Amino acid sequence: MHIPDPLGDFEIRPPAPSDAEAIWRMVDGTPDLDSNSPYAYLLLCSHFASTGLVAHAGDGLAGFVLGYVRPDDVSTAFVWQVAVAETARGQGLARRLLDQWFARCVRGSQVRFMEATVTPSNRASRALFTSFAKQRRVPLEEHVGFPRLLFPESLDHQDEIILRIGPVIPSRTVCQPEERS
Ligand SMILES: CC(C)(COP(=O)(O)OP(=O)(O)OC[C@H]1O[C@@H](n2cnc3c(N)ncnc32)[C@H](O)[C@@H]1OP(=O)(O)O)[C@@H](O)C(=O)NCCC(=O)NCCS
Repeated sequence: MHIPDPLGDFEIRPPAPSDAEAIWRMVDGTPDLDSNSPYAYLLLCSHFASTGLVAHAGDGLAGFVLGYVRPDDVSTAFVWQVAVAETARGQGLARRLLDQWFARCVRGSQVRFMEATVTPSNRASRALFTSFAKQRRVPLEEHVGFPRLLFPESLDHQDEIILRIGPVIPSRTVCQPEERS
């Protein structure tokens, strides 16, 4: 399945197992993201393909969003990781991915909220989710989801702050470029 990109610059589609290695490489080269095993990305690109999207430009991976609908709360779609290649940043690609990803999560489901975790130092990540909530004029609430004490001390990990956005009504889940402010 190919999802039309409003600006036509990127091919956006659900991930396939053949995308897992490129995603793993992108994450491994992105200091702000926790690196996971290649096998984790294979699982996310197969079992969770319906709640993921990849964007390609030319032959290369330009960005992706991977997540799932929370098994313990089917009203909430959780963004596990989202990233855009450095060369493709600042063009609105992450927002387009997030808009289309959430619209797919909502369709035919009970999903009305988006959750994501951000670390306090990641300004770009927070700006992305704030932009998503602001466009829809819905609340964005936050709390410490996973405190640093839960991570191995040797990692010196920051608190993971959970951002919870919504409720988003389904008719406003698709990005309308003229609505962006
Ligand atoms: C976060 C990230 C995905 C944003 O990708 P992007 O394609 O450049 O983002 P967009 O161009 O769609 O911008 C989305 C919004 O965030 C803002 N933004 C993006 N980068 C920003 C930065 N470095 N500082 C402040 N704001 C920023 C944009 O201004 C825009 O806001 P607006 O809609 O109000 O104008 C990208 O910087 C990235 O891959 N970072 C490393 C991975 C990461 O931290 N992922 C998030 C945690 S899982």
